[in-house]
Amino acid sequence: MIYKNDDILNFENISCGLGTSYIGKNIIHFHTIDSTNNYAKSIANNASEGTIVISEEQSSGRGRLGKKWTSKAYEGIWMSLILKPRIPLNELSFLTILTSVSIAKVLDNLNVKVGIKWPNDIILNSKKLCGILTELCLDLENKNSVVIGIGINVKSLDFDDDINKIATSLYKEGYILERRDIVREFLIEFEKNYTNYINTGNKINIIDLYKQYSVILNKNIFIVNNNEKELVKCINIDLDGNLVIKDLNDNIKSISTGEISIRGENGYI
Ligand code: BTN
Repeated sequence: MIYKNDDILNFENISCGLGTSYIGKNIIHFHTIDSTNNYAKSIANNASEGTIVISEEQSSGRGRLGKKWTSKAYEGIWMSLILKPRIPLNELSFLTILTSVSIAKVLDNLNVKVGIKWPNDIILNSKKLCGILTELCLDLENKNSVVIGIGINVKSLDFDDDINKIATSLYKEGYILERRDIVREFLIEFEKNYTNYINTGNKINIIDLYKQYSVILNKNIFIVNNNEKELVKCINIDLDGNLVIKDLNDNIKSISTGEISIRGENGYI
């Protein structure tokens, strides 16, 4: 097991040098838990905005589309962020976009050359490094909370057979970074981008960055819906974070972040 005691993701280690005003001010740290998203959802309505739930290990980590998310002890960053945005429900997918851009920016600043695969996968050397699972907690008084779950593979060297060909970690690709530094830098970057969006409603800068990091823009991709696969060209990502595609008959369609996944023409991406 590769880990050092000083890289434990507790409040003491993360808060040192964290100049945020509300994101990550309250950190709930576990050694093990079923899923940080489950826990965050259970406390969301009574928690303050910006609370993060983080665990060294998850026994039932969850991914998008009902998939499991492998979350071994000390090998990654398994965390959930509780937000209370006063925005229409149809803007929620933008928060996932904003999160993926914030993660990409932080890793880029640490000289890790990552890309983003729509809607929310962070890619390194054509493999998946990080995923995001955004969930809504409805509240009867209409004070909805949003839980943004983030999984970043940092020190994992072996993956289960089913994901071995498509998953990677920072260590596996030769980037030896401390988990706590990534978390701290992410919280700072996220607070800047989120506060700006909530205060101004401006999405253009984030979408522009998203497009710069996109690994599928202007490429041919397969849209996978249940068992059906369709080859299309990705021509844009619009201001709502929808994927704009052109099919083989030159019809243009916009796809929202629903129950579909995409694959590159020659593999995962
Ligand atoms: C995906 O790409 O499918 C999303 C993966 C999200 C994983 C994170 S790890 C922390 C949080 N808790 C969970 O159970 N899932 C998210």
